Amino acid sequence: MTDHTDTVTHDGQTGAPLWLLAELTYRCPLQCSYCSNPLDFAAVEEELDTAEWIDALTQARAMGAVQLGFSGGEPLVRRDLETLVAEARRLGFYSNLITSGLGLDESRIEALREAGLDHIQISLQASDPEVAAAVAGSRKAHGKKLAMARAVKAAGYPMVLNVVLHRHNIDRIDQIIALCDELGADAVELANCQLYGWAHLNRAGLLPSAAQLEAAEATTARWRERLAERGRDMRLLFVVPDYYADRPKACMGGWGSIFMTVAPDGAVLPCHSARMLPMRFPTVRERPLHEIWYQSEAFNRYRGDAWMSEPCRSCDERHRDVGGCRCQAYLLTGDPAATDPVCDLSPDHHLVEAARREAEDDTRSARELTPRNVHESRVFCRT
Ligand code: SF4
Ligand code: FES
Repeated sequence: MTDHTDTVTHDGQTGAPLWLLAELTYRCPLQCSYCSNPLDFAAVEEELDTAEWIDALTQARAMGAVQLGFSGGEPLVRRDLETLVAEARRLGFYSNLITSGLGLDESRIEALREAGLDHIQISLQASDPEVAAAVAGSRKAHGKKLAMARAVKAAGYPMVLNVVLHRHNIDRIDQIIALCDELGADAVELANCQLYGWAHLNRAGLLPSAAQLEAAEATTARWRERLAERGRDMRLLFVVPDYYADRPKACMGGWGSIFMTVAPDGAVLPCHSARMLPMRFPTVRERPLHEIWYQSEAFNRYRGDAWMSEPCRSCDERHRDVGGCRCQAYLLTGDPAATDPVCDLSPDHHLVEAARREAEDDTRSARELTPRNVHESRVFCRT
């Protein structure tokens, strides 16, 4: 099938995609309410098969992609993960597995290592099982994650942990960092949850207050000092939520600039959240990746600065932040071409300020969050 809607051809200036995120599946044993997967993920039923994934990886590598992330959903539910990792190694990718750790065991870690996987990043929800269970919908997951973090390290990988921070766990950041220290982590990403997909649905229940954020940053800074005094090499990266910045991030380094996602059904996206935008993204089943990257209307829509409206159009900073994030602009204003409201020059910045004010209300419980799940997702498939 050919998409006849494209009119833009390669401008000769667009560089190659350097990063490929392979979202192997939307299936996942957990139900994290901060998940960035699309609300209607249940509508995606026919995942690419092994041969289709290998073809997509081969095409991306031929275009110049060097970094490959396997994610999901939970990529470990794909029984062909080891085959895909081996192919990635043969093609010359640097490969990273982004996982909850569920579905992993010592023998699978060994099989992935033998297949040539370069890096594993495990996510933790909290320092204690109760909060982890309230946010991820599983009582058993926490203990399993800790065991797998240790097993990954024992297999010779650096232990890289990702902790998604939100208003229900950020006050326990001291205990979270202590747990990572005790586990022997080499690097910890303390990433305040970005508000896309299910996380956006749960925004009011997830966004921390300014006071919570300030205290968490101060605690992280104290931990950095203490670790340095002990000569302990555990890198702590603290990622502030967009809603507390006054300038937006240059999302994905710019739309269709260096980053490409292939979704479970083969849809090719400039970022993991873009499929909810009011536009159509071609799939690898329809067209070659090269053509999608360089020639599709979807990838060319927000390249460069011609699409920008005021205040970005005449702003001196437009090449630094490329007007921010298209998905955030859409989620907050309904217009994907709007200036990202995170920017305090945006006429819609009051929306972000209202969300910050809302976050000052401290009466919400983690139990009120809507878990990411197939049943709820089917509701969004129909709307
Ligand atoms: Fe960036 Fe646009 Fe804000 Fe200028 S107005 S700082 S280009 S988002
Ligand atoms: Fe889609 Fe920023 S997450 S452009």
